[in-house]
Amino acid sequence: MTPNNHDHLRAIVTSLLEQPKGIFAIDESIESCNKRFALLGIPETVEKRRDYRELLVTVPEIEQYVSGYIMHDETIRQSTTDGWRFADVLHDKGIHIGIKVDTGLMPFADSSIEQITNGLDGLGDRLIEYRDVFGASFTKWRALIHIGENIPTDACLLENANRLAQYAKIVQEHDMVPIIEPEVLMTGNHTIQQCYDVTARNLKILMTALHEHGVYLGGVILKTSMVIDGSECSVQSDIDTVAHMTMKCLQEYVSPDIGGIVFLSGGQDTNESAQHLNRMSQLYPNLSWELTFSYGRGIQDSALHHFAKYPEDRAGIQDLVMVWARADSLASIGKLPE
Ligand code: 13P
Repeated sequence: MTPNNHDHLRAIVTSLLEQPKGIFAIDESIESCNKRFALLGIPETVEKRRDYRELLVTVPEIEQYVSGYIMHDETIRQSTTDGWRFADVLHDKGIHIGIKVDTGLMPFADSSIEQITNGLDGLGDRLIEYRDVFGASFTKWRALIHIGENIPTDACLLENANRLAQYAKIVQEHDMVPIIEPEVLMTGNHTIQQCYDVTARNLKILMTALHEHGVYLGGVILKTSMVIDGSECSVQSDIDTVAHMTMKCLQEYVSPDIGGIVFLSGGQDTNESAQHLNRMSQLYPNLSWELTFSYGRGIQDSALHHFAKYPEDRAGIQDLVMVWARADSLASIGKLPE
């Protein structure tokens, strides 16, 4: 790492986490985007994905609530129907351009469930292109952690943590800010306590790996899942419990030196993910780090449903994006009406 790029990294982090803003994730892989399109009967074509992303990128005034967009490789190369590169549209609004740089998942060892994330090969060259050709200032890498019988194993957590740390180090060496996203999946019937235990174990291992790889913590954003019951758990905890358990876990296991923390929505509905963030902001106003959202589905869900039914209603689709971006922005400062 250039020893003197800490101020540069810190400035990007500060600008991304400036209140009352958060980060908009529109970086679903082609497969994930197609899956969501297929469920709603939207054609799974490159042009439909471009058309939909054009709507997301061109929402008027969204820069009041959103400081950065995370894009997929396909999207960062696309343009509006008028021929403006998406990257330039965002740049013009003063929005940071982020890029997902992991290249997907593969099975861990001989496990039929556990997975590790690929993408370190050729990462440096790809970063140079994203930074110099598209003006990207931050990146994202997602590791997926499954809760189940005897999983996650320490070995899988460690492999994912080492890859996240190696990725973060390389990104910082290229003067960009890495978002590290170890997502503990909501899928399953586990309890909130099991989620707490797994999240805690994982964060402990991850913090050690970041330290061992010499990653500059002030120039990293942690993107985490909340501590929450599995989606098939028979008991679902209330908002206060989720807020308290999530904050207890983060305060205990995340270094106070990390640049900031953002949440993924992870399959919670739009209202739930906003209310949870709102309660955390209200109950924990004086944290060591800024806390905000980096939602994908948490912002897009209603807009995507509207796009499926009324693709010609451009303003209506964009209004729905604004409704949830604004709600999440209010939630990030604890001002969302309940
Ligand atoms: P969700 O908020 O839908 O979990 O998405 C976060 C994300 O980073 C998508 O790639």
